[in-house]
Amino acid sequence: MTHPLNIAIDGTFSSGKGTLSRRIAAHYGLACLDTGKLYRAVARDVLAAGVSLAEGEQAAVIAAQIDPSTLDDPYLKSGEIGAAASKVSVHPPVRAALLAFQRDFAAKGAVLDGRDIGTVICPDADAKLFVTADPEVRAERRYQELLGYGEDVTLAGVLSDLTERDHRDMNRRVAPLKPAVDAHLLDTTDLSIERAVSTAIRMIDAVLDAN
Ligand code: DC
Repeated sequence: MTHPLNIAIDGTFSSGKGTLSRRIAAHYGLACLDTGKLYRAVARDVLAAGVSLAEGEQAAVIAAQIDPSTLDDPYLKSGEIGAAASKVSVHPPVRAALLAFQRDFAAKGAVLDGRDIGTVICPDADAKLFVTADPEVRAERRYQELLGYGEDVTLAGVLSDLTERDHRDMNRRVAPLKPAVDAHLLDTTDLSIERAVSTAIRMIDAVLDAN
């Protein structure tokens, strides 16, 4: 393979795709971009500016000015910002404003994880995975994560937010969450992180060997 390697990891909320992506990137010696952080940063800056999440054009102006050095802000991990990111990401101008940054990042060789990497951002990726797990299992994982951040949440509340988020991400008009036709499905419901990582690497190696 002569061009920089691109691996696309898409999937549902709390499917384990973030951890998987970081581990896969380390395995192949690639950079890693969690594209959800871009949408989360837009949501944070839109809310801070007092702009409504429903204002696509204004949110796009803010999206075009995202400072990549602010993507590791711990506040981005909160449930509040995650839900706001799902809302602001439905606007086509917001998605368009974030496209070049993601493509530039991919051009150097990288693992990108998100919702539309294999379908829109990197349709020619060398390997594509679509990661998911049963909603109850994802809700339990997210519940434990949020408790770890000290958030006051219930398992039922997390499951209801997650169902709402899945529905919004899968049914938006532009770049909905769906597997690319050439994506390989990885269901992590019954897998430990270690098993999920080794299974993912086996799947990716098989695709890369075949090309
Ligand atoms: O992966 P995450 O939970 O950090 O993503 C937060 C929201 O951002 C998600 O609900 C939808 C949106 N998103 C998107 O539309 N496209 C991406 N590539 C990544 C995230």
